[in-house]
Amino acid sequence: MKIGILGTGGMAAALGGAWVAAGHDVLVGGRSPLRARRTAELAAAGAGSLADAARHGDAVLLAVPAAAAPRLVTELADDLAGRTVVDCTNPLVPTDDGLLLDVGETGSIAWRLATAAPGAYVVKAFNLCHVSSWTLRPPTFENVPLAVPFCADHPTAVAATRTLIDSIGCTPAPCGGLVRAAYLEATAALAIGMWWAGLQPRNAFPSPAEAPQSWAASPRS
Ligand SMILES: NC(=O)c1ccc[n+]([C@@H]2O[C@H](COP(=O)([O-])OP(=O)(O)OC[C@H]3O[C@@H](n4cnc5c(N)ncnc54)[C@H](OP(=O)(O)O)[C@@H]3O)[C@@H](O)[C@H]2O)c1
Repeated sequence: MKIGILGTGGMAAALGGAWVAAGHDVLVGGRSPLRARRTAELAAAGAGSLADAARHGDAVLLAVPAAAAPRLVTELADDLAGRTVVDCTNPLVPTDDGLLLDVGETGSIAWRLATAAPGAYVVKAFNLCHVSSWTLRPPTFENVPLAVPFCADHPTAVAATRTLIDSIGCTPAPCGGLVRAAYLEATAALAIGMWWAGLQPRNAFPSPAEAPQSWAASPRS
């Protein structure tokens, strides 16, 4: 698959490198040609401008700060039309009450991006794990491939996202349409807040099958 990456930071290098290793044709685009070239070298990918990356990809990863994303997507809306745009951003603001989401009245940054580029097929994915996870080949934990939850509406975007996830050895976890992207963003706020507090979020999600008696006895309403 042809993949464009908007951004030249950690997520661009890690996911770009994983997709190149999986055989995809990746182009990293940045506002600084030098940083685009440096990140592209790390990922063994091609380099170009932001517009080059938007035009290159059947799928385009948006890997810039959430606060910068709506404006960038608005500027590139024509180039992104008809393409799958994978939004991995986390619109998080540290406060005295912990990490909060900054999404205005739109519910999620992903929804805002879909409004900013109505011709693009926006997907929310790859926002839950720390960047270091994507440098594993493949990302497996306790011998289980990493599940990657995603929210998408359009069948083209669902198929492309499955390929992006499958091809790096992870398990696609479809979690509904883009309207549910707000839950992925909120989950990131909760999980990252727990990590920062020295807690382990995955210990809070045991399978009900691990406590079958409690499950059978619980009220169903
Ligand atoms: N790091 C993680 O563990 C992680 C995990 C999940 C999701 N995410 C999300 O992934 C996104 C990228 O994270 P990252 O860790 O890769 O960040 P990063 O290393 O700080 O890189 C950010 C990139 O965004 C570019 N950028 C900043 N403002 C821009 C603008 N106005 N227009 C165009 N490009 C702009 C920067 O370009 P310049 O170099 O030119 O400034 C840089 O290439 C963020 O939204 C983050 O919330 C990160």
